[in-house]
Amino acid sequence: MQATASVLRHNSLLPRVSSPLHPCGSVRSPRRSTIRMALTEDGPSLAVVGVTGAVGQEFLQVLSERNFPYRSIRMLASRRSAGRHLTFEGREYEIEELRPESFDGVDIGLFSAGGSISREMAPAAVERGTIVVDNSSAFRMDPGIPLVIPEVNPDAMAHISLRRKGKEGALIANPNCSTIICLMAATPLHRHAKVVRMVVSTYQAASGAGAAAMDELELQTREVLDGKQPTCKIFKQQYAFNLFSHNAPILSNGYNEEEMKLMKETRKIWNNSDVKVTATCIRVPVMRAHAESVNLQFEKPLDEDTARTILKDAIGVVVVDDRASNLFPTPLEVSNKDGVAVGRIRQDLSQDGNHG
Ligand SMILES: NC(=O)c1ccc[n+]([C@@H]2O[C@H](COP(=O)([O-])OP(=O)(O)OC[C@H]3O[C@@H](n4cnc5c(N)ncnc54)[C@H](OP(=O)(O)O)[C@@H]3O)[C@@H](O)[C@H]2O)c1
Repeated sequence: MQATASVLRHNSLLPRVSSPLHPCGSVRSPRRSTIRMALTEDGPSLAVVGVTGAVGQEFLQVLSERNFPYRSIRMLASRRSAGRHLTFEGREYEIEELRPESFDGVDIGLFSAGGSISREMAPAAVERGTIVVDNSSAFRMDPGIPLVIPEVNPDAMAHISLRRKGKEGALIANPNCSTIICLMAATPLHRHAKVVRMVVSTYQAASGAGAAAMDELELQTREVLDGKQPTCKIFKQQYAFNLFSHNAPILSNGYNEEEMKLMKETRKIWNNSDVKVTATCIRVPVMRAHAESVNLQFEKPLDEDTARTILKDAIGVVVVDDRASNLFPTPLEVSNKDGVAVGRIRQDLSQDGNHG
């Protein structure tokens, strides 16, 4: 099974695609031009931390697309960006330097400025009554903090509400990007036939390493085509026209940190410490949207047609599985979309009795 998802949607790079599949892999229609105004007195006050980054820009894009109601929004980044202006939904905002006081009166804080910033600032925000949704790895494995994929385990954050008494703050961690797209596809099947072992191989895009990595891939591609030596600042080795083992640090057991996150986070999200997970994470020279090969071993038998039907009915999953035309999910087709596209759904011939 191959799952591909739009993990990051950097505004400047690719326009939005409107169809699940276009034969040439080309972009069919430009970004929607309608400006939606979700500014409303009844909405929560928001803060976006790391607003100048690849993820921060995506936060804004998704808030706008989903018409998320808000009464105010603070744009927060480092001192480097403080004082710069950005336009959101037709209004101009000044970017402010992130400080503990930035969260006074803020209901929801969307954090994506790295683990150390989250560790330092998220508790200060929670103290001020803010519900923090943290995109870093800082709190993911903390047993007291829910690790949530809304389509998979929303119950883990059911106790957290904007209308809670006393407006006390709270923290919600969101998982690593590889874990999210894997579990979006694997969980509906797991609920039906129980996954006992999962073997994942990833093909991860530049977007997962931030805006500077995307810029480096573009620059290197031009340099290589021009016969120049590629600039390697973000990654230690040439990225354009190459691929390499994920840049996360390698641990003494031979796995890298990205691979271990997939294992540990899956167990926490599924609340199942027995499930066996092994992963190999690779960085590929794709601008954005990660892809994965996911091989599942089930406790109960599960045939291919049932699996396909389950996936078609799964929230947030789009099945793109056209064998006759040899067309399956691609990063280009899912970029700028929220759905996880799944294809190459097939019985594993190496496992007996419909268990794979
Ligand atoms: N990219 C992904 O798919 C992904 C996936 C999972 C998790 N994450 C998490 O999200 C974080 C950001 O990722 P990204 O891809 O958006 O990175 P990025 O493009 O490099 O952006 C980093 C953001 O953090 C801000 N920042 C850096 N130092 C700061 C400080 N001292 N105080 C306040 N803001 C500061 C930057 O502001 P300036 O512009 O002012 O420097 C920028 O807005 C990562 O470190 C990781 O923890 C990313």
